[in-house]
This record gives sequence, structure tokens and C-alpha cells, in this order.
Amino acid sequence: MRQSSLVLVANRLPIDDSQAPDGACEWRRSPGGLVSALHPLLRHTPATWVGWAGGTGPAPTLPDVDGVRMHTVALSAEDFRDHYEGFANATLWPLYHDAVEQPQHHRRWWEAYQRVNQRFAEATAQVAEPGAVVWVQDYHLQLVPGLLRTLRPDLRIGFFLHVPFPPPELFMQLPRRAELLRGMLGADLVGFQRAQAAHNFAQLVAKVLELPATDRRIGVDDRVVRIGAFPVSIDTAEMAALASRPDVAARARRLRQDLGDPRQVILSVDRMDYTKGIEQRLKAYSELLATGDVKVRDTVLVQVAMPSRERVGQYQILRERIEREVGRINGEFGRVGEPAIHYLTQPFDRAELAALYRVADVMAVTPLRDGMNLVAKEYVAARVDDDGALLLSEFAGTAAELSQAYLVNPHDLEGLKQGLRAALRASPEDVTQRMRAMRAHLQQHDIRAWARSYLRALDEGGALVSRLSSTDGGPEDGARVPRPASPADTAAAQQASG
Ligand code: ADP
Ligand code: F6P
Repeated sequence: MRQSSLVLVANRLPIDDSQAPDGACEWRRSPGGLVSALHPLLRHTPATWVGWAGGTGPAPTLPDVDGVRMHTVALSAEDFRDHYEGFANATLWPLYHDAVEQPQHHRRWWEAYQRVNQRFAEATAQVAEPGAVVWVQDYHLQLVPGLLRTLRPDLRIGFFLHVPFPPPELFMQLPRRAELLRGMLGADLVGFQRAQAAHNFAQLVAKVLELPATDRRIGVDDRVVRIGAFPVSIDTAEMAALASRPDVAARARRLRQDLGDPRQVILSVDRMDYTKGIEQRLKAYSELLATGDVKVRDTVLVQVAMPSRERVGQYQILRERIEREVGRINGEFGRVGEPAIHYLTQPFDRAELAALYRVADVMAVTPLRDGMNLVAKEYVAARVDDDGALLLSEFAGTAAELSQAYLVNPHDLEGLKQGLRAALRASPEDVTQRMRAMRAHLQQHDIRAWARSYLRALDEGGALVSRLSSTDGGPEDGARVPRPASPADTAAAQQASG
């Protein structure tokens, strides 16, 4: 078995086993923000990515992807149902997103979660060379850091949570809360999207495990586990370059024509998920149509909603409700050849997405809760002419960084309508001023800056950063790096907990 000095562990590999229209098997880019963030980062890096290839049954052998070795972990049909659809996406996912849907608890799901986490830990232990750095990602694998530390104490282990980490009153509902916290504490560094999440984690560790904890470090046995906020980002330069390509600009012009040359295009791009606030947005849009604030020929809404986790009941119900509402709105307000909403559920390649971003005068990103939301960042990166209005939920992690967006509370229907109206009617000067500031922020705080700041903190020195590809040329982000731990820190953490 070939081993690597840098191992990334995530539930999904960057490519996914899917069916082509003719029924043949094909590989395509996996959905979601995690892959969008990490794939460009690791490209051409001598690393191994441990993950699941999207199907059930024996693990397929995959070729390297852009120079990164793929190491597949198999999920059986039962693992898929109880680990992925069950514990990960029907217990943890809703709970971590403000319980906007009711989290479900089943003992069988917890058994599957433990079993699959053990399998991931064992696979990782096999491919990590002595002293390697292992970077475990997201809520599907919260037990892996602890399991891996037992198997391979020589490794340097990082854990990063891409989704929100909930306040104690929600997390305390979990029957296996202590085990989940202990699993994460197997890491040397636990990273979150926002400082509030690190604070929630520290509070819980102190309360449930009675360990000394501050918002920066936690004493566990004879170790110090550092915690901190590292807001994930995108490959800003790559998206800007894509959006600047003449063929993408031409495609955007063509799209506008195909949409009937409206005065304004509103775009939303979401995974079809109840956290994304799609229904609330449709309601706001429909009320604006009803009052005549928005007129169909003048303005169109393009809603891309890519189906996700399709066998989970809450997702099936959501899809039915959204499609019924889109039908109702188009029936009520559309005209022949002029729908009020262009509704698309297909996957798009990056160039087509860039063209969509270029055509959007207003981008509406209004999740009820989101760890980060990379779509908002992609839109900003694609607006190479410094125009375009971003309507952004206060409850997306992105809002903490892109504060120049038109911020709204998606739970407040009137506020949402007002925000949408404001974005549609904003002066070009205001739009440009805001967009310029957001673009400048993202040029600095891109995916490489994120990885650097995380790995530097994990490393306490910086040598790890050199394990990333030599093509890694982005700027640095030192601002959010917790300072290295020292014996004094352990004492401080102990004192902090009293
Ligand atoms: P999440 O991780 O919850 O899915 P994000 O907004 O952080 O949400 O990331 C979504 C990612 O998926 C983005 O990179 C976006 O470009 C991509 N994406 C969303 N919809 C589609 C689609 N229909 N086709 C291709 N990529 C998509
Ligand atoms: O961002 C949260 C997340 O679960 C990521 O881990 C993943 O990239 C994305 O949503 C898509 O979800 P799934 O892997 O369930 O299709």
C-alpha cells in the first residue's frame, strides 16, 4: 500500500459514481461545497484523499484525480441508509442547522455511524506514512480523529467542520453527545467556520466532559487541543478567470437572450435542501409579483435547485413542495413563453455556472442556516466587472465576511421582500462600491489562504504548508491563526475552567 505524508479524509471523494443518460456508469464531480473548496486546493499535490465514491457495494478502484490519489471506502446499502442518510443527514444535519427540521434519533443509526467511522479510520491508518498529517472533514466523520489517534498516535490530526456547530441547548439533545465530542478531541486542532461555533464547542466540552476549555484551547489528558475559526473559501482567481473567458461571456449574453432579454435577472443556486430557504424565497418573490413590485417581462427568477439526499423523507417532501409552488407561481403570473421562474434541477459544469453568475443582476442566497455558502463567494468572484447585487442571509457563515452584501433575515418575509426590492432597485454606484469591497476581500481570503492558516496552526510552525502544491501562490491569512500552544496554555485552559 502506497503511503502519503498528507491525507485528506472526507465522506465524499471529489468524483462521484453516477449514471449517464444512456444508463452507463460515469464519473462526475461530486456535489456540494466541501468538494468545491478542497478539490482545487489539493490539485497536483502528492496527497491521498480517503472517501466514499457515492455508490453501495465493493469499493471501486479509482484513478488519480489531478495527481491526487483516491482511496475508496466502501459503504454497504445498510451503511448508506443508516450512516449517510440516517445519522449524518437525518440526525446531525438538521440538529446542526437550528433544527429547522426535526432531528431523528435511532440506535441503529448510531451503530452504523460508529462502524463507518471505524472503517474510515482504519483506511486512513493504512495510507498515512509515519508522522503524516491527516485532515479529517465534516460531520459525517466526527469519531475519526479519536479512533485514528488510538490506531496511529504518531500522526498529526486536524479536524474541520464545514457546517455550523450548534449552541449547547441543541447539541445536548443528542443521546451520544459525549462520544461525539470525545471523537473530535482526538484531533490536535479542531477548526470551525465561525468563532461562535468554537465557543459553543468549548462550552459543551466543559459541561459534558468536564474538561478545562477556553475558546482557543482544551486540555485533554496530557495534550492541548486547539480550536479556532477558519472560514472556508473558494479558488477566487480560478472563478474570476473562468468568468472572464470570452466563451463564458458569450454564453452569458446568449442566456440573457434565451431568458427573453429581461431588464433584470435574479439567480439562486442551491442544493435542494430545507436549510437553503428556497420556499421562503419563492414566497417573497410571489408576493412581489402579486403586488406588482416585480413584473414578469421585466424581471425573471432563475432557480437552480440540484436534488440532494433524495431518499431522505424530509428532502422528498421539500422537493414536492417546491415544485408545487413553482408550478403555482408560473401558472398564476407567467405568460406563454414567459415563465416567472425558470426552474432547473440539473448539474452544470463550472463554465455554465460562471455564465449564470455573469448573467445575474441579483444573486439571492438566503439560507435559514448555512455553515458558509460557497455559492455566494463564487458569485462575487465571477463579477469581474464589479457589478451585481448579492442578497445574502444573515444566517450564512459568509455574511460574517461579506458584510457589504444586502443582508436579510430569511425568516422575516417582509424583510426578505424589502431586501429583494432594495437589491433590484440599487443604484449602479452603490452596487459597484459593495461588489468591489467584497471582491477585494475574496482575493485575499481565498481557499489557499484558508488552507495555509489552518495547516500553519496545526503545525505550530509552518513546515506543513509546504506539503501543498508548489502551484499554491495565493496570499496569506494570518489573522485567524491561533497562536501555538505552550505549557502555559494548558495552565490557562485549566484555570479558565476553574
Ligand atoms: P453545500 O455545501 O451545502 O452544498 P455551498 O453553497 O457551500 O453549499 O456549495 C455548493 C457547491 O455546489 C458550490 O460550489 C456550487 O457551485 C455547486 N453547485 C450547486 N448547484 C450546482 C449545480 N446544479 N451544478 C453544479 N454545481 C452546483
Ligand atoms: O457542506 C455540507 C455538505 O454535507 C458537504 O459535506 C457536502 O459537500 C455537501 O454538503 C453535499 O452533501 P452530500 O455529500 O450529502 O451530497
